[in-house]
Amino acid sequence: MKKLKIGLFGLGTVGSSVVDILKARKSELKKDGYEFILKRVCEKDLKKRRNLSLKRDLFAASPAKILNDPEIDVVIELIGGEHPARDIIDGALRNRKSVITANKKIVAEEGPALARKAKRGGRYFGFRAAITGCHIVMDQLVHGGPINSVVGVFNGTCNYILTRMKELGKEQEQVVKEAQKLGYAEKDPSEDIDGIDTEYKVRILSMLVFGFKPPGKRMLVEGIRGVALEDIRFADQLGYEIRLLGILNRSRDMMDVRVHPALVPQGTKFAMLRGVQNCIEIDDVLRGVGGTVYEGAGGTPAASAVIQDVIDAADGAPISWPSRGMVEEKLSLIPGGMIRSRYYLLFKALNRPGVLAGISSALAGNNINIAKVEQKEEEKRGLVPIVLITDSAIEANIRKALKRISQIDVIKGEPKLIRIFDAL
Ligand code: HSE
Repeated sequence: MKKLKIGLFGLGTVGSSVVDILKARKSELKKDGYEFILKRVCEKDLKKRRNLSLKRDLFAASPAKILNDPEIDVVIELIGGEHPARDIIDGALRNRKSVITANKKIVAEEGPALARKAKRGGRYFGFRAAITGCHIVMDQLVHGGPINSVVGVFNGTCNYILTRMKELGKEQEQVVKEAQKLGYAEKDPSEDIDGIDTEYKVRILSMLVFGFKPPGKRMLVEGIRGVALEDIRFADQLGYEIRLLGILNRSRDMMDVRVHPALVPQGTKFAMLRGVQNCIEIDDVLRGVGGTVYEGAGGTPAASAVIQDVIDAADGAPISWPSRGMVEEKLSLIPGGMIRSRYYLLFKALNRPGVLAGISSALAGNNINIAKVEQKEEEKRGLVPIVLITDSAIEANIRKALKRISQIDVIKGEPKLIRIFDAL
């Protein structure tokens, strides 16, 4: 029997699901040769404590009661944030305990170093829950390949917001409120809707799959805050849905790593995702291109990732990160201006002769070909929307053209740009 004693930090949505699953699967795990004992739980919030029927003596009065308990083999950190989570992880590794965490920020910043530290002490470092449901393809991410690209919808809350905006015909603000009521979006929803949550997951995947740590602030990260109902409507008329994508693409020694909303063609797997569903698509030289759809938000998907880590910790099967020395030195991040894409552009203009001529001359002057252009017959406050799709162009050129277009006096407000993702 492989026996592990667990110290758990955090009884939020994920933590309480972990407790439930450990209980519910106890006998099944025993039959498979595992005995996992929840020895101590640290949770300050009394309300969260009351929601679970755990014995009083299970609760640790302070983190030290878990970190210094020589009987505890594995520390599960599910409190999130930076502090005291970082101290808990460090303290547990220092005391030669295995660590399992869902902390995206910490793993995105220090995952490989923490894994090395755990390995040196003969312990396990598990972070499946930090990439949530896409951990189900962990084997391929770590051992498959070579992998050319990984593209995904990695944030359930954003996918929920975008699909509900379309279903209900409501603006983002109203739908965010609904997502908050359902417990998907936080009180402050910025980590999800500004793309930060996706950025963490993409950073982890970049290190895990390509051994490449995207440098500090240079990676392109845009969330969905700027996506309005009219964009979703216009995209639909053009045969697209809008999704928040995380993109990782290796081309020789350049890495294209970015997060942004994108128009995806209707009928493709990304377009078909509904609600909090996520999807990861991997282009693997040996296995071809394959996509996996999974539930992206909620307690149980992340808790099942934690349980998988507990099983691997018991088996002594560490998750290996690629040898960074081997790959990282050779790779560099593609400069933002060099990104190549097709673009959806939206302008608001006074309905005057010559507007389209001005726009097309600015685009042509920057070597950008227009694939489609439409002026909508829906004048609001004297302004008409002009929707335009370009052929593939270099981002630096698009930026130059947009600067020129926004200087045309009949164009009002900032032009809107959303990239189109149909192929890498
Ligand atoms: N807030 C995240 C999401 C939860 O909506 O996908 C899982 O990381």
